[in-house]
Amino acid sequence: MPASRSPDVSSRIGRSAMEQAPHDASRGRGPVLRILHPVAGTIALMTILTFWLSTVFSELLGSQAAVVAVKLAIPWGFLLLIPALATTVATGFRMTRAPSRGLVSAKIRRMPFIGANGLLVLIPSALYLAAKADEGVFDAVFVTVQAVELTAGAINIVLLGLNMRDGLKLGRRRAARQ
Ligand code: HEM
Repeated sequence: MPASRSPDVSSRIGRSAMEQAPHDASRGRGPVLRILHPVAGTIALMTILTFWLSTVFSELLGSQAAVVAVKLAIPWGFLLLIPALATTVATGFRMTRAPSRGLVSAKIRRMPFIGANGLLVLIPSALYLAAKADEGVFDAVFVTVQAVELTAGAINIVLLGLNMRDGLKLGRRRAARQ
């Protein structure tokens, strides 16, 4: 009967589209990405945390030579941090289903703040502080820029930490589904 066939056909079409969706969405979410993404994210977080802690400890406990060594080392650390962050973001988007919702969308919303903080505050202030430390000038401007850098660094540590926490929740959910 055509009248009874029509809803049946549309429900079959609907079901087959739904059956395809998880298959299509699972493209690009293979084991390499699932390993690379958290590893790169953890490297990025640990690198910023190391910058922050070594700055605080050298300022509080270390000699002037220790402060200079830390300030001169941090720009080299960007050679690890920047590719690690870029890899984290690229692999994160590769694993994201469109449209993103919930925890993934919260993770994506944090990234512009992390990026802007890094490009506009952390990199310029680290380069400025390294140049000043190299000249042996630790004046009021140095202290102010150092305070700004530590604040921006702390914000990025918290935001990256939240992304890691949400990522681990997503990973646990996926493991529970499998
Ligand atoms: C634009 C930024 C990001 C996006 C779009 C994103 C997206 C995702 C997605 C979709 C997953 C779930 C993968 C799955 O299990 O199927 C995930 C997992 C994860 N993410 Fe991210 N992420 C981003 C940034 C970050 C950052 C910055 C970190 C760390 C600092 C991070 C750490 C993790 C971790 C640890 C997991 C769990 C992996 C597992 O246990 O399987 N993510 N992310």
